[in-house]
This record gives sequence, structure tokens and C-alpha cells, in this order.
Amino acid sequence: MTKTLVVKYVPRGERSNTRKILEEFKSRVKNSTIEELDLTKDVPDLFLSDNLMAYISRDYLGQSLPPEQKSLLTKMDKMTEQVKSADMVVLAYPMFNFSMPAAVKAWFDSIMLKGHTWDAKDGSYAGLMQGKKALTIVSSGGAYSTGPMKAWEHALSLSNAEFQFMGFSEVKGVLAEAMNRDEDTKASNFAKAIKDIHAIAHDWYG
Ligand SMILES: Cc1cc2nc3c(=O)[nH]c(=O)nc-3n(C[C@H](O)[C@H](O)[C@H](O)COP(=O)(O)O)c2cc1C
Repeated sequence: MTKTLVVKYVPRGERSNTRKILEEFKSRVKNSTIEELDLTKDVPDLFLSDNLMAYISRDYLGQSLPPEQKSLLTKMDKMTEQVKSADMVVLAYPMFNFSMPAAVKAWFDSIMLKGHTWDAKDGSYAGLMQGKKALTIVSSGGAYSTGPMKAWEHALSLSNAEFQFMGFSEVKGVLAEAMNRDEDTKASNFAKAIKDIHAIAHDWYG
């Protein structure tokens, strides 16, 4: 049995477009245990002076840390282990200010630890998450696939880059865009996102 880790940041709850797409995906998961991380409740740590120095000392300089410094990395280590324990990772969030919400970026910062999910060897980078699959579900108020705002999409593109950097073997993304435009545009884009989600779920779970 595989494990699917769902990482979600959907603060609008029941009304959330992103959540509806995520729930549709979850309803198609077969023969896989679903574990959830809700980033509105379990908020990742931010890198600040003390924990950043602990991370550099441990994972770049190879030093063993005293317990009080070690404990500064406990939450990041736990989130990293959770990702490493999963076969599939599904991340869902709305676009905020052309990118991912801060809690989602903090989650990526928490799990992209050198020597754990990626490494640097002989002057080049190597992702350590081979064999795993990642899917990002994003919804946005505006449209980015065509038109003048094309270069402003830093939400899904950033997620894809982060998962690729960590070496995930398959990196998929669905952007349900123009959710704040007219009803017809919203309805057709939402329907397309659901269709894409169904295809990915079918591909992953049969
Ligand atoms: C704080 C905030 C910032 C937002 N920033 C953007 C943005 O930069 N671009 C955009 O297209 N939509 C933006 N939106 C709109 C949401 O991305 C959009 O309505 C989305 O579908 C909401 O997802 P939800 O229904 O899952 O909450 C923003 C919404 C909020 C609340």
C-alpha cells in the first residue's frame, strides 16, 4: 500500500475553490493511505537567526548540535520525515500575491534540507526524492496562461521548481485560473481543472 501525503493551505474552508478540487482528487485515491498536513493549523517554522545557524552547522558543516540547538530543528525535521515517508505528495493552496502563501513557502523551506531531500555533490545539485510523485493544485483569481499577466505566475511554477529540485520523478500541476472572473469563464476553467485532476488520479491510482 502506498502513502499519499496531502499538504493543504485552504483558509476559506468549505467555500474554497482549491479545497473542492483537492477533495475531488482525494475521492479518486485508491489503495493508498492518505495522511494530511493542514498548514493553517500546523504552521511551519520560519528560518530566523538561531534555527538557520543550527541548520547550517548541522547539515552544511557536519557538526553535532547540543540538545538546545538540535531542538530548534525538530519541527522542520518532522515535516521532512513526513515527506520522505510518502510515495505521493499532493499540495493545494490558492495564489496569494502572484505566488504561494507564506505558510506554503515556509513548508518548502522546512523540507528542502541539504542532505535530507537534496544534496550538493562535486559542484552540482542532486535531488534525493527519486521514485516519488508530486502534484500541486492551485487556484487563482486572475488568468496567467495567456495574456499580459503570463510572466506574473510564480505560484505553480515555483512549486514545480521546488519539487523538481528535490528530484521527484513526476511533477504535475493544475492551475484553476480566473476564479474571480465572470461565471462562464470560472465554470469552464473549474471544469477543466477537475478533468485534469481526474486524469492524474487515474494515472497514479488506476
Ligand atoms: C490575500 C489574497 C491574495 C490574493 N492574491 C492573488 C493574486 O496575486 N493573483 C490572483 O490571481 N488571485 C489572487 N487572489 C485570489 C485567489 O487566489 C483566488 O480567489 C482563489 O481562487 C482563492 O482560492 P480559495 O477559493 O481556495 O480560497 C488572492 C486572494 C487573497 C485572499
